[in-house]
Amino acid sequence: MSSNKVLEFMEKDHDRLDKIFEEFRKTKDTSMPKARPMFHDFKTGLQRHIVWEEEILFPIFEKETGMRDSGPTSVMRLEHRQIKGFLEEIHKKVVEGNADGIDELEDGLLEVLKGHNYKEENVLYPWIDKETNEQERTKAFLKMKNLPPEKYNKCCE
Ligand SMILES: [Fe+2]
Ligand SMILES: [Fe+2]
Repeated sequence: MSSNKVLEFMEKDHDRLDKIFEEFRKTKDTSMPKARPMFHDFKTGLQRHIVWEEEILFPIFEKETGMRDSGPTSVMRLEHRQIKGFLEEIHKKVVEGNADGIDELEDGLLEVLKGHNYKEENVLYPWIDKETNEQERTKAFLKMKNLPPEKYNKCCE
């Protein structure tokens, strides 16, 4: 992991996932079978990103600040549930090869993601960077790297 800042590292992952999703949307318009593996990458990548946050990064914040049930991470956890709901609904359409209503679901997902990522990048990640030292972050990044795939790779393939 090149950066030792949560902001830089996680921002890059947001951008990486945004690009895969964009590519999926473009490809889907001409071929759903070709788009399917892209959605697979996006879904499992975003699920991994969410586990990184919920199981590794947010607990650091919650421990340092004592804010758990009423702080920013509880809002983020709630939004993750919405995001995962959209992922499953889109996933179903992709597997069925059914494009009916899929654009609306994708727009809905993007809408939630946009605000969500903005709050993480502008408030939460910098705050976590402020609450931690380099050593603690290195430890967290190592845990993220070694996260067992079965924690996030739930998809159809
Ligand atoms: Fe998040
Ligand atoms: Fe995030």
